[in-house]
Amino acid sequence: LAVRRSLVKTMKWQVVFFSISILYVSGQIHYSIFEEMKQGSIIGNVANDLDLDVKELSFRKLQIAPHNKKIDRESICEIEKKCMLNLEILAENPLKMLYHVKIDIQDINDNTPYFPKNIFNLSISEITTPGVHFALGKAEDPDLGVNSLQCYTLTPNQYFKLGEKISAEGLKYPELILEKPLDREKQSFLELILTASDGGKPVKTGTALIRIVVQDVNDNYPVFGQDTYRISLKEDATNGFQVLRLNATDEDEGTNAQITYLFSHTAANAMDTFSLDPDSGDIKIIGPLDYEVKQNYEITVEAKDGGGLGTYCTILIQILDVNDNAPEIQLVSLATPIPEDSIPGTVVAVFQVNDLDSGTNGEVSCDVPDTSLFKLLPTSTSYYQLVTFSSVDRETIPMYNITIIAKDEGSPQLSTKKVIQVAISDVNDNPPLFDKLKYIGYIFENNLPGTSVYSVQASDFDTDENARVTYSILNRNISDIPISSYISMNSKTGVVYAQRSFDYEQIRDFDFQVIAKDSGSPSLSSNVTVRICIVDKNDNAPKILYPSPDMEGTTLVKCVSCSTCSITES
Ligand SMILES: *[C@@H]1O[C@H](CO)[C@@H](O)[C@H](O)[C@H]1NC(C)=O
Ligand SMILES: *[C@@H]1O[C@H](CO)[C@@H](O)[C@H](O)[C@H]1NC(C)=O
Ligand SMILES: *[C@@H]1O[C@H](CO)[C@@H](O)[C@H](O)[C@H]1NC(C)=O
Ligand SMILES: *[C@@H]1O[C@H](CO)[C@@H](O)[C@H](O)[C@H]1NC(C)=O
Repeated sequence: LAVRRSLVKTMKWQVVFFSISILYVSGQIHYSIFEEMKQGSIIGNVANDLDLDVKELSFRKLQIAPHNKKIDRESICEIEKKCMLNLEILAENPLKMLYHVKIDIQDINDNTPYFPKNIFNLSISEITTPGVHFALGKAEDPDLGVNSLQCYTLTPNQYFKLGEKISAEGLKYPELILEKPLDREKQSFLELILTASDGGKPVKTGTALIRIVVQDVNDNYPVFGQDTYRISLKEDATNGFQVLRLNATDEDEGTNAQITYLFSHTAANAMDTFSLDPDSGDIKIIGPLDYEVKQNYEITVEAKDGGGLGTYCTILIQILDVNDNAPEIQLVSLATPIPEDSIPGTVVAVFQVNDLDSGTNGEVSCDVPDTSLFKLLPTSTSYYQLVTFSSVDRETIPMYNITIIAKDEGSPQLSTKKVIQVAISDVNDNPPLFDKLKYIGYIFENNLPGTSVYSVQASDFDTDENARVTYSILNRNISDIPISSYISMNSKTGVVYAQRSFDYEQIRDFDFQVIAKDSGSPSLSSNVTVRICIVDKNDNAPKILYPSPDMEGTTLVKCVSCSTCSITES
């Protein structure tokens, strides 16, 4: 009997058929062979084993019913443990089923374990606690005993180990057991190879790929590049200028990593000055900056992810000065008018000079033009005194317009001018001055008493009382008669009046002194000499003095003339 072919369906049918006709069997042979024997392999000698006569064998054409080629135990018997192939040996002349042959087909390791599904896709949350099991599909190996599936192994890795679950039917299912917490942010994807091995010699293995996607959980806070940002901005930075772009990152994914920026614990004046874009994190200028008003802003921004976790950062903005303020000059006190007898160095005014800018932009120097009679002396920081540089004279310059110039050291340089008026007040330093060195007045004799004779005039360079002049006649006697009997004077106008009718023939001229006195305190005065000449009128008939009147026909007129008088009437 030799192996001729292997057929699954036919053999099954045959087995059933022969198991019925076994009733007619008169002898039985039992063989045991390994499956997958080569075609033509000798299984056993039926004639010998049945003790048949060889001559009779050829006469009766001994034959077996099926025509087998390859004998595959797994095809014939599927998973049955005992695999028996039943054959009937036929003889002709007459046709008869003679013998029943049982062939026990032994298993060999001709099958490789395999996974019906060779990719396992797993999605595992990163917060899964260690110890959790994940079922995997089992592998198959139709061989028997040690030749069938023996064990599973897994690619060595730090997260998972392999476990085994035995089903109700006693089947072994591999499963993954989480050993160490996952962290999507460290490793979001793993590929492991699951190997199924049998116990044959040599061992046959089959593999499946386990693909594990680690599912995100919002377990990360947003993170700013820096906790604190320090920014410097010039105060002339314009509206819309981008100050900073915040960029917080979140290691999670999806909405868990979607960041929104918002102001937090930020003063209203900072929010009025800076805008924050919730999506881009852009911080821009929206309000005016003024170093002189506010030099520092502190902004706190929260970056919040879609899962509600928030982180804060602080932005410190320092405003830098730009020379946008000219110096300011403030008059603290002003002494005006100042008396003209003030000594050089007298304080006229005190100024305060300020510049709102800082640094060199706020460094101020202050001066008055060289042409002024005055000079500036710094007293303390930002204070200056304006003092007289030389003596002043109201009668020369009664009023000064003094220009004070304050300049800062910024670039461009800014300056401010202030003009103050300083008046010089009068001091009685000028006596009245007569307009002539000497006065000569004339009056015709026989005048009416009270007639104005003459007038003198004195002026005073001072002002007001210091210039208000009164006139008086210095008392003296002329021929034992007080001058006041001759003339009087209007003290205000300086007009001289005759007190009597003059007679040229009695007095031809006389002198007196007029004093002009101002009303200052103390008052100043000056005097002048006035000569009054009496002018002759023909008020006398000629009179013969000599010879005696009896010398008729002889008249001698003595002509007299006033030595100082220029006018003579003859
Ligand atoms: C596993 O996932 C990969 C990639 O997502 C996909 O291409 C494949 O079809 C999946 N396989 C199974 C068995 O689900
Ligand atoms: C924010 O930072 C991340 C990582 O440094 C970078 O990839 C991204 O382009 C930045 N975004 C912006 C708007 O600058
Ligand atoms: C001083 O200033 C006033 C007013 O500005 C002006 O009227 C006057 O003429 C000025 N005086 C002098 C001396 O410049
Ligand atoms: C008149 O003026 C002169 C010269 O200034 C002076 O010396 C004299 O004392 C004055 N006389 C009187 C009476 O004031």
